[in-house]
Amino acid sequence: MASNYTDEAAAAGYRAFRYDFAERALAGRVVIVAGASGGLGAATTMLLAREGARIVAGYRLNRARAEALRDAVATQTGATISLVEGDLAEPRVRAAYLDAASKLGPLEAAAIFPGDPARVAWEALDAASLRASWDANFVGPTLLAKDLGNAMEQSDAGGSLVLLGTMQAVAPFASSVNYAAPKAALVHAARILAKQFRRVRVNVVAPGATLAGMAEASVSSGKYDSFVAGGAISRFGRPEDIARAVRFFLEPGGYATGQIIVVDGGLTLRRDAG
Ligand SMILES: NC(=O)c1ccc[n+]([C@@H]2O[C@H](COP(=O)([O-])OP(=O)(O)OC[C@H]3O[C@@H](n4cnc5c(N)ncnc54)[C@H](OP(=O)(O)O)[C@@H]3O)[C@@H](O)[C@H]2O)c1
Repeated sequence: MASNYTDEAAAAGYRAFRYDFAERALAGRVVIVAGASGGLGAATTMLLAREGARIVAGYRLNRARAEALRDAVATQTGATISLVEGDLAEPRVRAAYLDAASKLGPLEAAAIFPGDPARVAWEALDAASLRASWDANFVGPTLLAKDLGNAMEQSDAGGSLVLLGTMQAVAPFASSVNYAAPKAALVHAARILAKQFRRVRVNVVAPGATLAGMAEASVSSGKYDSFVAGGAISRFGRPEDIARAVRFFLEPGGYATGQIIVVDGGLTLRRDAG
């Protein structure tokens, strides 16, 4: 019996080596980048702007850095990005993201970068520091994913959400409880949302030690040099590595959902080499 769900015209094309690879698939699409002014969000914002996306770029309180990013995007790409300020934990801030997007057109994609390294010495770890990390690394990003996902779920076109994890959410590293455990919960939340939504894909990009943003100082200090010297990784991560992975998931018409891409140069696999 023939399937009711095949596309004979497409299948005929494939037999003749004709394929549909969209170029600049995000051109003209409305994309929210929360945490856009950070080390990894900025690279992603620049990549999406180069490809013609219409971008709402969020930050918490460093307005000077956000405005500097807006100026750099305008200079390098000619695009104008809309800025949204404030903490994701506040409902009015999450509403401001949706409001800014609605002025540009139907929202089709969002990448949620905010997080906090939550560095606390093991001896000092207490209820307050655990709760603060939980709020920064799980509660805010999850509530924004809920609000943006609900909005996209209501449109026929659906959409794509990307959440930012960390390699430490996937593989255990000593002394990372306060940061990695809420991030692991965020990965699980992403998979649950992917199951729950019908029209919205939800995926995670989990960076390794990257030479920009919150890890820049640690990487530059030599803290992770043993991983390169020992052969676990050939180099540290670049913000462009993360931006390309995020773009992959954001592109409309994608077929992956509930997945996690660890962009760490192999560090979680080979870390014992260092
Ligand atoms: N960089 C790395 O090597 C690395 C490695 C593994 C995982 N990650 C993850 O990747 C994501 C991005 O990291 P990054 O290095 O780009 O971070 P970052 O440089 O510290 O930037 C964080 C961005 O998020 C904003 N932000 C922070 N808390 C917020 C909040 N509560 N509400 C709204 N905005 C908030 C910041 O705005 P303000 O500056 O105005 O506060 C900034 O735009 C994080 O989730 C991080 O855990 C990064």
